[in-house]
Amino acid sequence: MSRKLIIGNWKMNGSLAANEALVRALTSAGLAEKPVDCAVCPPSVYLAQLAGLLQGSSLMLGAQTVHARENGAFTGDISAAMLAELGCKLVLVGHSERRAGHGEGSEQVAAQALAAVRAGLLPVVCVGESADDHDAGLMQDAVTSQLAPLAAANAEAGGTLLENLVIAYEPIWAIGSGEAATPQYVSVVLECIREWLAETAPALEEDKLPRVLYGGSVRPGNAGELLALHACGGLLVGGAALVAEEFIAICTAAAAQA
Ligand code: 13P
Repeated sequence: MSRKLIIGNWKMNGSLAANEALVRALTSAGLAEKPVDCAVCPPSVYLAQLAGLLQGSSLMLGAQTVHARENGAFTGDISAAMLAELGCKLVLVGHSERRAGHGEGSEQVAAQALAAVRAGLLPVVCVGESADDHDAGLMQDAVTSQLAPLAAANAEAGGTLLENLVIAYEPIWAIGSGEAATPQYVSVVLECIREWLAETAPALEEDKLPRVLYGGSVRPGNAGELLALHACGGLLVGGAALVAEEFIAICTAAAAQA
């Protein structure tokens, strides 16, 4: 078993005072001594604040999205180089809330992932089926079609994309619903993603395959059983990442499975 990755996606939540309190609680929880990789992704306006608060900490800083281009006339957008300069180590791309609210399609998400890798960031590519696809039993088809453009982007990057990313599987119907997918269900889709990765990047040995995370209503009470899945490399946490004790409990459960 290898180290798990636990990422807190704060979404559009926080304030200068609340962020400081949360980060101080997380950085004084002794997570650095535990075998687990932890990260937080605040709203972009708070990245500089968190970069300061996280100086000398093992807690990694991440962003919630990135533009695919290096610079230019893209009002409101932020480049991968800017995120790297601020101290970000990773960036979420293709979160379902970005796909739904900002029309980001899978081709664009692959281009964002490529831009991130080129700037030295770890892209966390989010995929997941809608409630309709879930009801129709089409979760593997939905997820593999979202992954497909990563193959061409990987070729464009000379094979360096798929060995330097993370995939996060977040079934849309499980996000914020309080109903996580069952471990059995999650296992089927995570194994499917790993098979896709192994077929698309045959040169990668099994222990070099990128980590595949699960997200969607993760809580301290269900984290352990999800992390115990063979294919589960970690968790992408929303609501519970805003509560210090809950996020610490989830990170601690992950350390116990390393
Ligand atoms: P919740 O944990 O609040 O369901 O959110 C999951 C998510 O979307 C993380 O990116």
